[in-house]
Amino acid sequence: MRIRGGASLGGTIDISGSKNLSLPAMMASLLTDQPLSLSNVPRLADVISAIELLDYLGVGVRRSSSSSLVLCCSNLKTTEAPYDFVRKMRASVLALGPLLSRFGKASVSLPGGCAIGARGIDLHIKAMQQLGAEVTIENGYINASAPNGLDGCDVNFPISSVTGTENTLMAAVLARGTSRILNAAMEPEVVEFANLLNTMGANITGHGTPIITIEGVESLHGASFEIMPDRIEVGTYAIATVATNGRVMLKGCIPDHLSSFLEILKAAGGVYEPVDGGILVYRGQDKIEPVSICTAQYPGYPTDLQAQYMTLMTIANGASSITENIFENRFMHAPELCRMGANIAINGRTATVIGVRKLSGAQVMATDLRASVSLVIAGLIASGETIVNRLYHLDRGYENLEVKLNNCGADMERLEG
Ligand code: EPU
Repeated sequence: MRIRGGASLGGTIDISGSKNLSLPAMMASLLTDQPLSLSNVPRLADVISAIELLDYLGVGVRRSSSSSLVLCCSNLKTTEAPYDFVRKMRASVLALGPLLSRFGKASVSLPGGCAIGARGIDLHIKAMQQLGAEVTIENGYINASAPNGLDGCDVNFPISSVTGTENTLMAAVLARGTSRILNAAMEPEVVEFANLLNTMGANITGHGTPIITIEGVESLHGASFEIMPDRIEVGTYAIATVATNGRVMLKGCIPDHLSSFLEILKAAGGVYEPVDGGILVYRGQDKIEPVSICTAQYPGYPTDLQAQYMTLMTIANGASSITENIFENRFMHAPELCRMGANIAINGRTATVIGVRKLSGAQVMATDLRASVSLVIAGLIASGETIVNRLYHLDRGYENLEVKLNNCGADMERLEG
């Protein structure tokens, strides 16, 4: 992506549906033989990867409009999710819970490492074992079986895990009796996911708190469900707006999902005003204030907005620290930002950022989804031309990124090759 920096963003951006809700929602189609209709699904590479996996498993997937999918698992072909799918997209491990609970067995490739840390799935495996599954690890695969079904129980997460909670929900909804997830993830995506399962006939209560209770039911049925707006996309464009000293209306966002982020953005000099169906964001003062953050599970500051925020702090009026508490290796954007003139020192899980007057355009390399977009924001505020390489990361999680930004006055273009 070639970006010519310097423009202040101005205009309106329509926020797409949430990636991190769409992926588990699509996997929930494995839980019933009736059609599941999902609307407001973003057109992203990760969604296509999920469609490919579901298609391989035997789920019929049809696009009923550009942002709507109808998924129907009335004729499963296999309970095996091979390495090629899981390697491409970690969220493929979300096939484990529903395959096991509905079909009594699942074989899912281990995902291996990823760019932002070791990211084990030991907690997913342990949860399935606690629900009564026999699990072995062989040839790089998790082989889980529960020929007589799963039994409800307490599943206690030592670390709260978003997809771990979602996988456990899908396993427990069809288990016999009552399950409780202790130290459950409370992210809005998890809450909405439980709402989707309830719409499909599940009996889940307590979602949005650390203890979720699931009364197992015999079967689930089809449903129609609208995917909520992507709060990380909202936060990303809000940062881009404040960083470029722009003024943008973000349409279709739920400010309550971003409380801790919006508080920090305000302290850093951003202004946001709730307006009908969205928020208007702009910079309220000349200089950006340095404000330190620590990432945390919801309702804390989201790790998925850490890289973008670091870019904002590179041009703040002083020093700030950024502590990444969720993933151990999520600072890969920092050396790239330094190539653009940023002043960042990393010590373990904390980055110290000393604001500079200006960034300057350079060739940079994207390493993961949120790192990539932090470099795009850096390109927007830098003088001269920035080239961001390895765009496939961006396409995994941002729908029409350059169209949305160019409509607001950015100067970006996708280069071939
Ligand atoms: N963890 C384990 N073992 C497990 C599961 C998690 O050690 O079995 C650790 C992880 O390594 C991490 C922590 O627990 O240190 C929390 O990770 P979590 O399981 O919550 O992450 P995830 O479910 O794999 C989801 C999002 C991520 C987001 C994190 C944290 C999806 C598909 N992915 O991942 O999104 O960063 O929660 O909020 O929902 C992104 O969109 O860019 C992205 C990476």
